Amino acid sequence: MRMFELGGADAAAALDVLHVHADVQGVVEGDTTITVWFRGDAPALPFADLSVRELPYDADAPQPTGLEQDASILVAADLLVRPPWVARPAGFHGVELVVPRGGAFGSGEHDSTQAALRCLHAVWDAPPSFGDVGTGSGILALYAHVRGCRRIAACDIDAASVAAARELLPEADVTLGGPETMASCDGLVANMTGTELASAMAAILRCWTRRHALVLSGLRAHEVDAVAAMPGAVEAVRLTVGAFTAVGYRGAPGRR
Ligand SMILES: C[S@@+](CC[C@H](N)C(=O)[O-])C[C@H]1O[C@@H](n2cnc3c(N)ncnc32)[C@H](O)[C@@H]1O
Repeated sequence: MRMFELGGADAAAALDVLHVHADVQGVVEGDTTITVWFRGDAPALPFADLSVRELPYDADAPQPTGLEQDASILVAADLLVRPPWVARPAGFHGVELVVPRGGAFGSGEHDSTQAALRCLHAVWDAPPSFGDVGTGSGILALYAHVRGCRRIAACDIDAASVAAARELLPEADVTLGGPETMASCDGLVANMTGTELASAMAAILRCWTRRHALVLSGLRAHEVDAVAAMPGAVEAVRLTVGAFTAVGYRGAPGRR
């Protein structure tokens, strides 16, 4: 096995060539360099802006996995997201969401996820049932589970997301498709683009019993007012993280 560090503007193009013409065993993409492991000789890499440096490879040394930079994300003072391989920070006693960073959207790093979580945290009113539209990794449904909700439904139009959410929450009813595939839920969250929210809104609102809180997230500034008006409910919280806004509505528990 040999280990090389690629640098320069053509490093990614060189990596593409290595994938085709070398027996690549592993890649770690850093901010400025790419480290690549392969067996045998390097093919020709005729790129103008490329530096290639062979690094000593020690088969017995612990090898980088690409996960070394992972850290816990403090979404609010008492709300934390971390992958399973990162330890809980000492002294943290709030709500903790342990989500592996995999192929599905929703590891807690994206601003729209953080906006959704902070908004949900602010309006959380312990619904007996909870729905997560566009669940991705299942992170928002996991919030409901960690807060004690035992009847959780979720959906996503992406099959890999459905598989990831089912793995994260084996007891939840996770369906492949839009909100029309979900049973009705007392509390509900949807973190999608403004366009996706608007086109799914009728089905989202059919799912929501209005007895407990609703959160819509993923809205860019120019979308917020129009989408926020669609539920026809009184807004309780509106907050923005980076470029994304989440809007929270309280439910009416006595409603039939
Ligand atoms: C921005 S990600 C949110 C993932 C996760 N809920 C989070 O907050 O990090 C949006 C997800 O919604 C899904 N999606 C988009 N349109 C949808 C629709 N009409 N019905 C269900 N899922 C949808 C996408 O496949 C994607 O996984």
